[in-house]
Amino acid sequence: MWTKHDWRACPIAQAPQYPDKLALDAVEAELRALPPLIFAGEARVLKAHLARVAAGEAFLLQGGDCAESFAEFHANAVRDTVKVLLQMAVVLSFAAAVPVVKVARLAGQFAKPRSQPTETQGGVTLPSYRGDIVNGIAFDAAARTPDPQRMLRAYHQSAVTLNLLRAFTQGGFADLARVQQWNQAFVAASPQGERYADICRRIEESLAFMTACGLAARNAPQLRATELYTSHDAMLLNYEEPLARQDSLTGDWYGCSAHLPWIGERTRQADGAHVAFLRGVANPLGLKCGPAMTPNEVLRLIDLLNPQNEPGRLTLITRVGADRVGDVLPPLIRAVQREGRCVVWACDPMHGNTVATASGRKTRPFERIMRELSDCFAVHRAEGSRLGGMHIEMTGKDVTECTGGAQQIDEATLEDRYHTHCDPRLNGSQALELAFLVAEELKAERDRRRSTVLPMAAE
Ligand code: PEP
Ligand code: CO
Repeated sequence: MWTKHDWRACPIAQAPQYPDKLALDAVEAELRALPPLIFAGEARVLKAHLARVAAGEAFLLQGGDCAESFAEFHANAVRDTVKVLLQMAVVLSFAAAVPVVKVARLAGQFAKPRSQPTETQGGVTLPSYRGDIVNGIAFDAAARTPDPQRMLRAYHQSAVTLNLLRAFTQGGFADLARVQQWNQAFVAASPQGERYADICRRIEESLAFMTACGLAARNAPQLRATELYTSHDAMLLNYEEPLARQDSLTGDWYGCSAHLPWIGERTRQADGAHVAFLRGVANPLGLKCGPAMTPNEVLRLIDLLNPQNEPGRLTLITRVGADRVGDVLPPLIRAVQREGRCVVWACDPMHGNTVATASGRKTRPFERIMRELSDCFAVHRAEGSRLGGMHIEMTGKDVTECTGGAQQIDEATLEDRYHTHCDPRLNGSQALELAFLVAEELKAERDRRRSTVLPMAAE
């Protein structure tokens, strides 16, 4: 029998050292008394959508900031990220005629894994910055000391963010009649912006036709509103455990900090705390799979996280780097197929493709991001499997953090608007460009399926 405290007896990776245990206990107690951020019924609906992805009937689009922060929190920033997600979803669903399941890396994506527990500058060694939910980014002892009060601030910011997400998606902003308005000025000026405007015109024509047929938005809620789910790396278990709640309808436990929590590449040890906690919540789960993941390991983790082989429960998010797809993925896919395991395969083309420029900036070349994605499509196809989704780091802001793309951002241009305090993100224009390229892959997939289905239908 699972309990929500089991993880405390397990080895734990990436855990902050809180100096004041009593203060930590008090904050955990306060979080336990606060309302859930998401509801069990919503997580169940998302799981059902992901089961459709697993069956090849929908595509998962997961994206947002690398890390949310307290300082940069603003309604406009949330709105602009939502705009880009909606735009990408329109491109994907219009070009490939496939439903898109939209999941934001928002409303809880605060905690960050670090390669070293401490950082040394000028002979001074302090704890590493682990995200605003844990400590402050400034290099001084006070800021870097893990402070449990930050969990409460992250909780409240997540609640406000979720309120915005619910309003943006349900309150008229996501109405398909407004697709044009999601195109921000800096994106509209790019070649992708023009391609997007062309799709908008075609959607507007289709809507006018449907209205003429009597199918207006007022009697078709799907045209007027959309669903957007939340997700984050469930790294900080002192925050996750108090937000685990037992569903009164089913008696099952749910992680109520996000619809789709995922386990990061550095915290996925089969005997570790993160697996021990997440295996017991009934949400759909993500699992990052880096280049070191072996077939045996992935099967072991699938056994632990999805013992009932429930469709939609588990999404494997591979992030192996553009040069490794061909050697890492096939053995994993074959092992999953051999054991008859039902998973969603998604590609995170960001985290395996971070490189340093000559001046020491972290960046991600667009060419590598695209190549990891297109190689994933090709490898899955060759193995008789299917890439069901993409997981990206992007922002609605006009930043210059990833090189390349149609805007041809180079190492010198990176300096113009390099704002991330974590990993480099795609800007709105690059994210849209990626959506167009993925849409072409999905359309080719659909055409191939049609050409294999049609002759049979004619018989
Ligand atoms: C992330 O998604 O921000 C992240 C740190 O990923 P990974 O665990 O795959 O490195
Ligand atoms: Co990141």
